[in-house]
Amino acid sequence: MALTTELRTQLQLREVAGIPLQASTVDNWSQIQNFEAKPDDLLICTYPKSGTTWIQEIVDMIEQNGDVEKCQRAVIQHRHPFIEWARPPQPSGVEKAKAMPSPRILRTHLPIQLLPPSFRENNCKFLYVARNAKDCMVSYYHFQRMNQMLPDPGTWEEYFETFINGKVGWGSWYDHVKGWWEMKDRYQILFLFFEDIKRDPKQEIQKVMQFMGKSLHETVLDKIVQETSFEKMKENPMTNRSTVPKSILDQSISPFMRKGTVGDWKNHFTVVQSERFDEIYRQKMEGTSINFCMEL
Ligand code: A3P
Repeated sequence: MALTTELRTQLQLREVAGIPLQASTVDNWSQIQNFEAKPDDLLICTYPKSGTTWIQEIVDMIEQNGDVEKCQRAVIQHRHPFIEWARPPQPSGVEKAKAMPSPRILRTHLPIQLLPPSFRENNCKFLYVARNAKDCMVSYYHFQRMNQMLPDPGTWEEYFETFINGKVGWGSWYDHVKGWWEMKDRYQILFLFFEDIKRDPKQEIQKVMQFMGKSLHETVLDKIVQETSFEKMKENPMTNRSTVPKSILDQSISPFMRKGTVGDWKNHFTVVQSERFDEIYRQKMEGTSINFCMEL
């Protein structure tokens, strides 16, 4: 079933304060900005394609004390309301969050400057996951190829320009990561890296557990490591998006759980592109102390 013209129009990118967002989000902007956060909310924050689904499953497994069946209660995208999500007439992310009992776990891709102010006013906990820019771009490119709700990415060469200019949904990778990084000591932000979770999942899962104020037995932690591996999550219909209609996510073009690796950029970037990207990266990230691992 093809998307209706009306739906396609709703889904075009429009800017808020220079950040391209889905048009349906922009239409709902005042509801999003007036969202009432509560002090015990935990907000999962990521730039798209940085491992959102992975950290959501980890957080849920911790919350459910490693009970796999409880984590099967709903598909992952419905377990943690997506604050800026809006697709009328379905309930918006804000409405879903409002209907949820506390303590709530929510998620967003918003850059920190566009976050509803009540999250910071209430000193909520933020769990931010960053992924190296080159792998993020590769993942986002394939995601835009298969996601009918986002603009067609064009060729790899065209997408390179779109990405470095921040003309993708949720804006510039550089500004997003820098923005959250710079606030990490001012608010309750646990700042994690995709590459670290990949390298030592148990250590990073332990950090998340402590941040959530939980204490789980060693055997439960081992189980969480296993259950949230790429291989398990790729096979799990509650995490692999296989229940989403093909008219929205066409997994015959590219699977949602695509590779889950570090360094796939090397299979995509030419030497010239990589050198140019590195130079732009240096300029845009100048002055920050973030050190990304590009290969494992
Ligand atoms: P790739 O496209 O590089 O494979 P998001 O959930 O933010 O949309 O991010 C999706 C990316 O995270 C995809 O990257 C996906 O494969 C990867 N991913 C999801 N679950 C993972 C897991 N358990 N381990 C490693 N990578 C995972």
